[in-house]
Amino acid sequence: MAGKKSKSGAAKKGAKGSGGALKERLGVIGAGVIGSALVRGGIDAGLLHPSRVWAATKSEESRREAAKELGVSVLTDYDSELARTDVVLICVKPAQMSQVLATLKSKGLRRDALVISVAAGVTIERMGRELGGSQPLVRAMTNTPCVIRQGITALAAGATAQSKHMTLAHRLFGAVGRCIDLEERLLDAYTGLAGSGPAYLYLIIEALADGGVNVGIPRKTALEVVAQTVLGSARMVQESGRSPAALKDDVTTPAGCTIGGLLKLEEGNLRSVLAQAVAEATRIASKLG
Ligand SMILES: NC(=O)c1ccc[n+]([C@@H]2O[C@H](COP(=O)([O-])OP(=O)(O)OC[C@H]3O[C@@H](n4cnc5c(N)ncnc54)[C@H](OP(=O)(O)O)[C@@H]3O)[C@@H](O)[C@H]2O)c1
Repeated sequence: MAGKKSKSGAAKKGAKGSGGALKERLGVIGAGVIGSALVRGGIDAGLLHPSRVWAATKSEESRREAAKELGVSVLTDYDSELARTDVVLICVKPAQMSQVLATLKSKGLRRDALVISVAAGVTIERMGRELGGSQPLVRAMTNTPCVIRQGITALAAGATAQSKHMTLAHRLFGAVGRCIDLEERLLDAYTGLAGSGPAYLYLIIEALADGGVNVGIPRKTALEVVAQTVLGSARMVQESGRSPAALKDDVTTPAGCTIGGLLKLEEGNLRSVLAQAVAEATRIASKLG
């Protein structure tokens, strides 16, 4: 559960999902990396009031740990909460989904309660089938930078979800980063790109730091320099409105060092290897549900 202990603070209070605290009562089933980040981020953003949030884990050990960390009621048996819960956010692994959906169905989930799932590969159609009826459903895919409220989440609405449900989902995930709407058919691809994306970038950061060490820069300094270079470059793409290709050309002096380095990357097929990584992760994501 890497990242579970990280504290938020990167985003300004109320900057995302502004409009006051939610009046709805929220239950978060699964208080691991993602579930905990959403509870903590929502509280930090002023969106969630701890008295209107409960969370659930499977084991007593995780329950104790999450209760201490999150400061909300954390349960292993949440049946009695369901009748007064307006929004259920499911943050368990795909393999646990059937069990959770069966519990919700048989233990009194309100028919008007909004159910949001972040489980990779689990379709809205399957959730609707297993829950039965016309439950409002939203499927989300986020990524681990939501732990520091710098995630990016894609949301797809089920046929029974109304605009008020999507507004609520946007507020919840907006509290931990950026949020976009995406057709559900693209969510597995999104998982391969953005859900898995942080891991690709950590590998690239590690590899570039190795490169720095190889040319004599101490490891700690190399890592600090690379992390800030990645952060700054990403902000340039977001804020300049220019394409990465144009920004790259700015760095590339004729007969200079950068073009030499870039040609080595092309020789190693970096561009094609990254595209293949996204395609493979997308293929696997489509089988998880
Ligand atoms: N991690 C990522 O990078 C990432 C990114 C995007 C989306 N996701 C999606 O987010 C979901 C959660 O991932 P995660 O990384 O947060 O997982 P995680 O850290 O393993 O957390 C899973 C949580 O679910 C709880 N749980 C399991 N079965 C349960 C049950 N029957 N009832 C109640 N709670 C139960 C676990 O409790 P115990 O500890 O007691 O077992 C744990 O608190 C996955 O579906 C994944 O596809 C993950």
